[in-house]
Amino acid sequence: MRYTRLIALLAVPVLFASLGWAQEGESIYKSKCATCHGATAEGKIGPSLKTTKLSEDDIVLLLSKGNDARKMPHKKAMSSLTDDQIKAVAHYIKSLK
Ligand code: HEC
Repeated sequence: MRYTRLIALLAVPVLFASLGWAQEGESIYKSKCATCHGATAEGKIGPSLKTTKLSEDDIVLLLSKGNDARKMPHKKAMSSLTDDQIKAVAHYIKSLK
């Protein structure tokens, strides 16, 4: 009984933290990526991200390091994003279907 309550108390902040993280990914996407990749990642100037073959880790790498073989803006790292923001937005993209 005592433990149940303790677990419930601990679970609440964890739940809110992970919800906040998911929302952060979406808001970063909307402000930094949607102009090129479309409001629902359906593709516009840039390709659709719903169907990307890249893994979450590949996306993190592309955004944090850039890739010379790619067109702008992905030749260079997205320097306006922190590592945590990059992880959140990569996670958000992989949550889209
Ligand atoms: C200025 C327009 C522009 C912006 C802003 C932009 N992208 Fe892109 N993105 C592109 C273009 C163009 C490509 C294709 C580049 C290539 O493959 O040479 C691309 C490719 C990608 C790919 C690779 C897709 C694949 O399957 O190969 C990912 C992942 C991606 N973008 C994620 C993002 C994310 C996340 C953001 C926001 C943080 C973002 N992009 C912002 C234009 C943009």
